[in-house]
Amino acid sequence: MVGALEIVVLLSEYELKKRVLGQSYNIEICLGSSCFSRGNREVVQVIRDFLRKNHLNDKVLLRGARCMNRCSEGPFIIINGKTFTGVGVQDIEKILENELVLSAPNI
Ligand code: FES
Repeated sequence: MVGALEIVVLLSEYELKKRVLGQSYNIEICLGSSCFSRGNREVVQVIRDFLRKNHLNDKVLLRGARCMNRCSEGPFIIINGKTFTGVGVQDIEKILENELVLSAPNI
């Protein structure tokens, strides 16, 4: 039986990490079949390596997303609400440097 004063708060994983761990940056990478097969399979590993090398694992929430219904523009990545299309392995490190290191020096 649930007490009258019991309060249940349900937070998404992102909100939980943002509030509890102070993570305020997030990367959503499309892992739908089109984006996955056209490069995001490799891009996700480059992102993981970049975050580890730059000691950003505890600051950035990386999560996979389902198809975003923009397959023709993929591979598709969203970093802090900013959309990047046609991303390849050759592009992602520069994008991460710009979005997570250079433009967010307090990260
Ligand atoms: S599979 Fe990525 S937008 Fe559709």
